[in-house]
Amino acid sequence: MALLVLENVTKRFGGLIAVNNVSIEIKEGEFVGIVGPNGSGKTTLFNLISGVFFPEEGKIVFDGKDITRVPSYKRAPMGIGRTFQIPRPFPSATVRENVAVGAMFGAMGGQLDVKSALKIADEIIEKVGLSAHKNKIAGTLTPVEKKLLEIGRALAMKPKLLLMDEAMAGMHPKEIDNMVNTIKNIAINEKIAVVSMVEHIMRAVVGMAQRVIVLHQGSKIVDAPTEAALKDPHVVEVYLGHQKEEN
Ligand SMILES: Nc1ncnc2c1ncn2[C@@H]1O[C@H](COP(=O)(O)OP(=O)(O)O)[C@@H](O)[C@H]1O
Ligand SMILES: [Mg+2]
Repeated sequence: MALLVLENVTKRFGGLIAVNNVSIEIKEGEFVGIVGPNGSGKTTLFNLISGVFFPEEGKIVFDGKDITRVPSYKRAPMGIGRTFQIPRPFPSATVRENVAVGAMFGAMGGQLDVKSALKIADEIIEKVGLSAHKNKIAGTLTPVEKKLLEIGRALAMKPKLLLMDEAMAGMHPKEIDNMVNTIKNIAINEKIAVVSMVEHIMRAVVGMAQRVIVLHQGSKIVDAPTEAALKDPHVVEVYLGHQKEEN
């Protein structure tokens, strides 16, 4: 049984169809990349999975439960974690405190005392490579460190599914490779399915995803193993078109 199933999901904003009749299955522990140019519906899709919006049509099932209309705050404890494109730490709290908050609101939400949450935070901080900064105020971190913190906070929630929204944007190739390795190691160890979305960073997709889903104007146009997906004529067209616009 798949961990996450989207069945013919549609989300509109007024007359605009942001996500158009999309069906997706994600298995436990799977690494899937969602790609597509700016405006293709990636963030909206994540918002539907994490419960920020409800779809007008279709059904979302997580871990065997229909969550189509389950509010966002109940989905994190069920095991749906996410990172945001723009990291949102509590800027005046320390790195350690920020990660501990993630632990307290995650899958073990309500059951953890502060001391246990801090212990989990320390383990995660070590894994994401932020130990040297653990007592720093989050607001003083560099952008790359903030991204690591964002990932640490999400991992501390002990998700079964981790949604990563452009988590590696703005990083150098070497930093991306390190980040991909870090996430892969943790996710494999803890059997976390990772759905990572990107606009530009093909390096991260190729390094991480076993399967790639391509969105274009809200519709799913490709869903295939990574190598095949990146050779797909639709993908080449969508991406070359996009790069031309940018240059
Ligand atoms: N909250 C919103 N209200 C109105 N339109 C939105 C909203 N969020 C996204 N959209 C529109 O939905 C489409 C898909 O956007 P988005 O999901 O952010 O794409 P992506 O993440 O792939 O760049 C875009 O046309 C965008 O302008
Ligand atoms: Mg987006």
